[in-house]
Amino acid sequence: MSFACSWSVFAFVSASVQDIVQGFIRDSALLPCESGQLKVNTAHWRYNDSKNVYDILNGQGTTKEQDAEYKGRTETFPAEYSKGNFSLRLGNLQKRDEGSYCCFIPNAEFDLNKCINLQVREKPRGIQEKPGSNSGVETTAERIVSLLFPLFSATVLLCV
Ligand SMILES: *[C@@H]1O[C@H](CO)[C@@H](O)[C@H](O)[C@H]1NC(C)=O
Ligand SMILES: *[C@@H]1O[C@H](CO)[C@@H](O)[C@H](O)[C@H]1NC(C)=O
Repeated sequence: MSFACSWSVFAFVSASVQDIVQGFIRDSALLPCESGQLKVNTAHWRYNDSKNVYDILNGQGTTKEQDAEYKGRTETFPAEYSKGNFSLRLGNLQKRDEGSYCCFIPNAEFDLNKCINLQVREKPRGIQEKPGSNSGVETTAERIVSLLFPLFSATVLLCV
């Protein structure tokens, strides 16, 4: 496979697999961000590429620069930082919280950028969700991947 082809396949995969997290109004949602193998202790959560949602600087969570609309609604998990887990819980969800949340992880070699598309819905009547649960994350992500897989295979086939 040529370099250009490998790169386009890589770009295709990283562009298409954007996880969707669904939450209910007034509930919370966990927005996952993991650094994988990278040994890092800094991560920046941003909404729509602009608003400051949360910063983790040198292993310390801070809301100093946080946009006012996230005040008192964010939580990260310091015990998880050393495992490269910078997941963020956003509480008291409102419809206007919908959009893209990206976790930027600066690194000497390359920056990681993981984005989550948050969708907020009215809680269906009669369903008792456990607080903090966000079921449906995996299934939605899987559905996207399965929809995209034929496209992805076609890209690979064109390349070889
Ligand atoms: C990251 O931390 C959150 C909060 O403790 C946890 O729910 C989640 O499972 C963790 N992710 C991984 C991959 O361990
Ligand atoms: C965030 O981005 C989404 C998708 O582009 C857009 O629909 C929404 O209006 C934006 N929200 C804000 C507050 O900028």
